[in-house]
Amino acid sequence: MTRHLKVDAPIPDSPLDHMAQGVLGKPVSRLEGPLKVTGRATYAAEARPEGLLYGVLVQAAIPAGKVLSIGDAPGAMVVIHDPRLIRYAAQGMATEGPTAGPDEVEYMGQAIAVVVAEALEAAQAAAQALQVTYEAKDVPVDPEAVEPERPEDKQSATGDLDRAMQDASHTLDQIWHTPSHTAAAMEPHAATAEWSGDTLTVRAGYQMLATSREQLADAVGIKPDQVRLLAPYVGGGFGSKLGINADSVAAAIAAQQLGRPVQVVMTRQQVFDLAHRRSETRQRIRLACDTQGKLTGIGHEALVSNLPGVSFSEPVTQATPFTYQAAHRQIVHAIARVHRSCAGSVRAPGEAVGATVFECAMDELAETAGIDPVELRLRNIPDTEPCTGRPFSSHKLAEALREGAARFNWSDRRPTGQRREGDWYIGMGVASAVRVNSLIESRARVTLQADGRAIVETDMTDIGTGSYTILGQIAAETLGLAVDRVEVRLGDSDFPPASGSGGSFGAASSGTSVYLACAEIRSQIAALIGCDEADLTLQNGQVRTGNVSRPLDALLTGELTGDGHLEPGKTEDTVRQATWGSHWAEIAVNRWTGEVRVRRMLGVFACGRVLNEKTARSQCLGGMTFGLGMALTEAMAHDPRDGHIVTRDLAEYHIPCHADVPPLEVHFLTESDTYVGPLHAKGLGELGICGAGAAILNAIHNACGVRVRELPATPDKII
Ligand code: MOS
Repeated sequence: MTRHLKVDAPIPDSPLDHMAQGVLGKPVSRLEGPLKVTGRATYAAEARPEGLLYGVLVQAAIPAGKVLSIGDAPGAMVVIHDPRLIRYAAQGMATEGPTAGPDEVEYMGQAIAVVVAEALEAAQAAAQALQVTYEAKDVPVDPEAVEPERPEDKQSATGDLDRAMQDASHTLDQIWHTPSHTAAAMEPHAATAEWSGDTLTVRAGYQMLATSREQLADAVGIKPDQVRLLAPYVGGGFGSKLGINADSVAAAIAAQQLGRPVQVVMTRQQVFDLAHRRSETRQRIRLACDTQGKLTGIGHEALVSNLPGVSFSEPVTQATPFTYQAAHRQIVHAIARVHRSCAGSVRAPGEAVGATVFECAMDELAETAGIDPVELRLRNIPDTEPCTGRPFSSHKLAEALREGAARFNWSDRRPTGQRREGDWYIGMGVASAVRVNSLIESRARVTLQADGRAIVETDMTDIGTGSYTILGQIAAETLGLAVDRVEVRLGDSDFPPASGSGGSFGAASSGTSVYLACAEIRSQIAALIGCDEADLTLQNGQVRTGNVSRPLDALLTGELTGDGHLEPGKTEDTVRQATWGSHWAEIAVNRWTGEVRVRRMLGVFACGRVLNEKTARSQCLGGMTFGLGMALTEAMAHDPRDGHIVTRDLAEYHIPCHADVPPLEVHFLTESDTYVGPLHAKGLGELGICGAGAAILNAIHNACGVRVRELPATPDKII
């Protein structure tokens, strides 16, 4: 039986608060951790089916134009240049139909062919020796040098911002630039494809199996039910594995043509080209406020880029309409169509760069107005969503700011440039954290075996976030079992389709479907002993009702199965759902070199129920670390001649390493959001990055008086 829930109304009383096991929320270590640290959790590139062949992707050496000819590849079995490969290769997250004809190259580095050989080295050598001729086309690659599109539905204006700017006591009008970012997942993209008759099985790194399955079927030209995807372990996604990539398509096509399994593993350099990037942004922020620091005007104009025909564009201004109140507002969203690599969702698309820049602007305005930056924010928090008037499903920004200020000893902050220790200027900075929240349709199946063990099955993925563990905890809590009595099976498209991992929606969405499946089993147990489900207590493998208590396995004669199906409903439209928090940073700037050392950071977050204190905290630590990277080190450089990404390894694209990251502190506010289903849990995977970089950039200014508006804040921009 399926327990279906459409979330159409708030659920004030969470059933999880009435369960007796007491395991939900606890800092349970990852269930699959031992498999990962002992090498028994195998990743896509480690599959070694019988008869495996190796495919190496060949990349376009022109920014745009046509492939005219592809030469022979001595030492290789075959060179496959197939329109099906090129069609999806340009898209990363395949957002819509074909964007180009069969032989059209759209960006430098795009996959145009795959070379297959018996040995990896032979395929590599052949790919390198391959002669390709092109007819190159002149195309724009600089987003600031073209007339951008301004889609009507992405612009909005209320009141008269120009007028508000004229009439204001204090104003700010500045432009920021953020560079292209790469997701930089630890595991490079890899796929191993195998056909059995008309059925294709691909083992690869995916964040969302159900949609990736449809994309791959479409790419290869078969039906989704002919495709099985396996992604039991994924070494990080951060957006880059939301959809299929060239590795999957190439492996599938090659395996089909050759009748043997084929594996395609991207090199790190190929990942930089072929997994989509986060678009660079140009952001103009205008702010106007009165003498008391009450905002009267907010303007946020964003310019982003993408390839022609790709529907995604970095939603820079996503949170701007509802973060702060102001009567006069203007949002501009412009998209430059250029032939840099495909842009897509990377680590909190929108707020990661949008809120970071906006929070820098708030800091500048606070200084201009002579108001403490925490106080300025507190004075401008809306009661309901500006423009729509919708209530917030929950709203803890003010509490996060106050709590953070106390925990971080904000009162120690000195005016700009007034704290020095030897050669180091010391500064403190703050930023609000905000991220939209949503649920995605999700299904799960739970089987309670006669021996009292439970098996959870869903095509949900664990991309290093802790899905295995939290889903195990939800099932254990609801069925009254120790966590080790629950086996969680994920990452197989044969299992019921879940939300997948992305957009911070995974835990709450897939978690709710697992809860619903378990709730269905609870009602079956209640029926077995003849009581109301509400009168049932399940704990430590015991079933209790009234003063009767029996072991669960003694009650069961066979297995019980429950299916759970979560559907987002009306509540998403009636309230504004978001997660909130505050970021704090203390940094030191070297007076001679301009080097910035982050000394400590604090993140205070409210994201509804915390399902596992340890994995939740780890998510936030990761986000804050990426915020540090955004502020100080991460940037992809595009060659101005052809748009090609020249920063193509993790030495030049510097993700903060241990030596860069000081002790980070994470504090969760107690919160229960009744609008997000029975779990009362919201997303948190991305909240940790949204605004974190701004706290650092604001701290740099507090230390030495320099405003860096061209990210990242490398020493040359500070000295
Ligand atoms: Mo995320 S950028 O939706 O994985």
